[in-house]
Amino acid sequence: MPATVTFPNGTTAPALGQGTWNMGDDPRRRPAELEALRTGLDLGLTLVDTAEMYGSGRSEQLVGEAIAGRRDEVFLVSKVLPGNASRRGTVDACHASLERLGTDHLDLYLLHWRGGHPLADTVEAMEALVAEGAVGGWGVSNFDVDDLDDLAAATGGGSTSGPQTDQVLYNLGRRGPEHALLPRLRADGLPLMAYSPVEQGELARHPLVASVAADLGVTAAQLALAWVLRLVPDAFAVVKAGTAEHARENAAARELDIDDQAFVQLEREFPAPAGATPLEML
Ligand SMILES: NC(=O)c1ccc[n+]([C@@H]2O[C@H](COP(=O)([O-])OP(=O)(O)OC[C@H]3O[C@@H](n4cnc5c(N)ncnc54)[C@H](OP(=O)(O)O)[C@@H]3O)[C@@H](O)[C@H]2O)c1
Repeated sequence: MPATVTFPNGTTAPALGQGTWNMGDDPRRRPAELEALRTGLDLGLTLVDTAEMYGSGRSEQLVGEAIAGRRDEVFLVSKVLPGNASRRGTVDACHASLERLGTDHLDLYLLHWRGGHPLADTVEAMEALVAEGAVGGWGVSNFDVDDLDDLAAATGGGSTSGPQTDQVLYNLGRRGPEHALLPRLRADGLPLMAYSPVEQGELARHPLVASVAADLGVTAAQLALAWVLRLVPDAFAVVKAGTAEHARENAAARELDIDDQAFVQLEREFPAPAGATPLEML
């Protein structure tokens, strides 16, 4: 049974989901991308992460096409651009995303990164979207510990549902969040959502990862994914696959248990952060 993660509001979603950055941009790749997403859904990768930013809405349109007729299977995540994240702009942006996605609700709506609009305004808009049923929950992305402090001050007890996750860059080569952010999220009862878990393909080509993976009879991408998924139930991971073959390979990574020896080998190449590390983003 594939692992799931539960949000503070009690909703549960699969620990491994599908990312969609850079998808929908090239008409020649579209059939393969649709097949990849649908294959992922068939295999239980039913959390699908997109954003209004991705291809200026083209990713959301592609996702809408991929999930047409099977919306109920999907845990759908999208994001508002910081420049749109005013009280009114957040609501309008969400409705535009829903239109492109061909649905009447998102399961989760994230502030893509922190911008100039007061957090309290964004939070108020997010709560209004929850109240109207346009989103099941809301959260943030690329928030470091100090941003979470400010968010807590902005929600200030007036928030009825509160944030559900912080989607951040986290993988073997980006372990900074382990120092302070992950402990903070755990203390707040918020699951982390790791993006770029294979470092946009780089970890799938990394010689040391490939060699440790070969000893385990798996691919480097699978090992890198399984390494992030060791944090379940405290973390999700969203990986982007542009082909059905990659989607199948990634889905199979959920079955992989990394043994201690492999952990030690990976730890030598990718040590845990020695101290405070500012949150990185792509
Ligand atoms: N909140 C944020 O600011 C933020 C930032 C970045 C990303 N994200 C989200 O996180 C998702 C994932 O991150 P990402 O797309 O940046 O990078 P990623 O998922 O780490 O890597 C995607 C790349 O890895 C390749 N790949 C995937 N599976 C593979 C496999 N089994 N074997 C070999 N190569 C494989 C893909 O190639 P193919 O296309 O050929 O399969 C693609 O080039 C995004 O799509 C997006 O939804 C969010």
